[in-house]
Amino acid sequence: MDQIRIVGGRTLKGRLPISGAKNAALTLLPAALLTDEPLTLRNLPRLADVDTFGHLLNQLGASTQVQGSRPEDFGRVMTVSAGRITSTTAPYDIVRKMRASILVLGPMLAREGVATVSQPGGCAIGNRPIDLHLKGLEALGAEIELTSGYVRAKAPKGLVGGHVNFPMVSVGATENVLMAACLARGETVIDNAAREPEIVDLATCLVAMGADISGIGTERLVIQGKDRLHGATYAVMADRIEAGSYACAAAIAGGEIVLGGANKALLGASLGILEEAGVAFADTPQGLSVQRKNGLHAVTASTAPWPGFPTDMQAQLMALMTKAEGASLLTETIFENRYMHVPELARMGADISVRGRSAVVRGVAALTGAPVMATDLRASMSLVIAGLAAEGETRVNRVYHLDRGYERLEEKLQAVGADIERVSGD
Ligand code: UD1
Repeated sequence: MDQIRIVGGRTLKGRLPISGAKNAALTLLPAALLTDEPLTLRNLPRLADVDTFGHLLNQLGASTQVQGSRPEDFGRVMTVSAGRITSTTAPYDIVRKMRASILVLGPMLAREGVATVSQPGGCAIGNRPIDLHLKGLEALGAEIELTSGYVRAKAPKGLVGGHVNFPMVSVGATENVLMAACLARGETVIDNAAREPEIVDLATCLVAMGADISGIGTERLVIQGKDRLHGATYAVMADRIEAGSYACAAAIAGGEIVLGGANKALLGASLGILEEAGVAFADTPQGLSVQRKNGLHAVTASTAPWPGFPTDMQAQLMALMTKAEGASLLTETIFENRYMHVPELARMGADISVRGRSAVVRGVAALTGAPVMATDLRASMSLVIAGLAAEGETRVNRVYHLDRGYERLEEKLQAVGADIERVSGD
């Protein structure tokens, strides 16, 4: 199996492009099921998860066409045409590979009146139930049964608008219900909706497809259902988590990099925390410039739904704080098991103690390279970040996690001067 090999100690300089956002792509792709006309998505990242989603859409009867992309280009354009949905079942084999498959449930149910989706299990970062997705769809009139590991949903007379008040903020549940409501009869109100930029991206695309949505970007979404949506062309937003990850890379390695296609606003709460840690940002015509001014300082950060500090940045910030002066306090409030990177960072010399949901990270003078592996995407990225600053060689195993969420990571980091390569692990 491939590994990423990094020799730490190089400062970074130059520009690297930020790709389209994985988490936006994975909710825009199922939106294509809401119409029988083509939906063309530009700036889709080239990622394993996007390919898997394409296969899922094919399995449901949609065609996917990739246009004019050369191997050397980042990103691509894909047109999804779901003229007819020939199967309403998302099978176990695909859902087990990618939890975001659950996002076909709402659109398929809304369009076909029936949908069967394998229940996603837990994953490396926690239980990850889907009860809020199901309750939300039930509020729109869906009848749902859980049998043999599958969610079987039907709405023989079509979905009808309703009031959904989520007891906690869920990105995926908001997306599923929002998509379904676009084709439900009458008005749907979603309270305590997630406000993540990827949801704004989805809602904006749905409006381009003819949906009537107000309150976009707020915790109350109001949707007037339509009989049908039409095709559209839409460009996926830039990946704020990828941008934040490379900002951490530049901050730990030193030097100055420019993140093409990114700006300060994209980073949300990560910006203020990284500034507090001693990282300087500037919006420039070429993109977001990132530079560590002097030493790194410890910070306190707690993950929260947008506009809070994202759980998807917690591991990368932790890697950065292993080299900061002082003790940082990081608290994970979204997922119960999202510290799998801690023992691996410790093997590289980091001083981290976890108690319950909080971790105290005491900065050390030096990290040392080591063979490491992680069980999820962002944890794997935290090991890459630590490796860039570690003395000697780090080999990150289980590269398939990184391939799910970082488009050609090693090429982007090589381009700004990192000593990093993909090697065959055999
Ligand atoms: C999405 C992102 C993921 C990110 C997460 C939080 C995608 C493909 N994934 O995941 O990268 O880390 O948002 O920003 O976009 N919950 C329930 N019941 C539910 C749904 C969620 O209890 O039905 C809980 C979860 O266990 C978790 C919290 O709600 O504690 C937030 O989860 P949610 O926002 O739904 O995350 P995802 O949409 O799965």
